[in-house]
Amino acid sequence: MTPRKIIIDTDPGQDDAVAILLALASPAEIAVLGITAVAGNVPLPLTEKNTRIVCELAGRPDVKVFAGCDAPLSRPLVTAEHVHGKTGLDGPQMADPTMPLQDQHAVDFIIQTLREEPAGTVTLVPVGPLTNIATAFQRAPDIIPRVQEIVLMGGAYFEVGNITPAAEFNIYVDPEAAKIVFDAGVPLVVMPLDVTHKALTTKTRIDAFRAMGTKVGDMVAAWTDFFERFDMEKYGSEGAPLHDPCTIAYLIQPQLFSGRQINVEIETSSELTLGMTVADWWGITDRPKNALFIGDLDAEGFYALLAERLARL
Ligand code: RIB
Ligand code: CA
Repeated sequence: MTPRKIIIDTDPGQDDAVAILLALASPAEIAVLGITAVAGNVPLPLTEKNTRIVCELAGRPDVKVFAGCDAPLSRPLVTAEHVHGKTGLDGPQMADPTMPLQDQHAVDFIIQTLREEPAGTVTLVPVGPLTNIATAFQRAPDIIPRVQEIVLMGGAYFEVGNITPAAEFNIYVDPEAAKIVFDAGVPLVVMPLDVTHKALTTKTRIDAFRAMGTKVGDMVAAWTDFFERFDMEKYGSEGAPLHDPCTIAYLIQPQLFSGRQINVEIETSSELTLGMTVADWWGITDRPKNALFIGDLDAEGFYALLAERLARL
């Protein structure tokens, strides 16, 4: 089986970090062509720095990391330090990265890669606001039909919003970008809060990371310890949802997940429901079924995969 070529677009964020580690720990299934940072959980200077920290933690200073858009298409940036901490990777102490940041802008890298790789062979995996992806589509519409698939973390329907009562953070930060991506006609797999809120950390699951006795295991345990406090307080849950790794786990073991091919539209005009993913789960409209909207996962299988792969690093 040839590994799936992907570009991860990210705003680390502890859960983004685990997604990047899972991808880099799975070379048989995934070939990471590059990682593009976007402003989101924290501002761009931190998301690009955090991306390089994670690549070095994985022992992969060779990975090409690019800085992208530092603000949404047409709105001021909203960040989430209240969830991820001031650095975006709060929890453990971390040294500054020494690996280089690429000079090329992330959007130019996305465009160039999609033009140079054979059509239909590159998957985009955005796990932050969709500003970089939308900007690439706007600047170079010719790349849109060349994208194999977009597997993204974002949105919510039955689980409703986490940054407003109606909207999930990644979509809310740049709803105009999300609309461009959801309307582009590229095959779309959406990992909304409906499924990520079933991928909860637990003490046993975090202890399994710590029991690895590796730097990666210790860092992931410390990140999830920090990251879960916000969700546990807000939802009264036993643990926190590991949102972003669901995208990578889907690429490795899609059978862990289930969902429906439905229409999903993005609210961009109502201030009250701005950024809502309006998911036609019951097929009430005849709008195009543009997204595989994932609603469930085998959480035990997901964490078993995560533990097995992270232990390799
Ligand atoms: O709403 C969850 C999403 O917002 C995740 O991608 C998390 O990293 C934050 O970016
Ligand atoms: Ca993220």
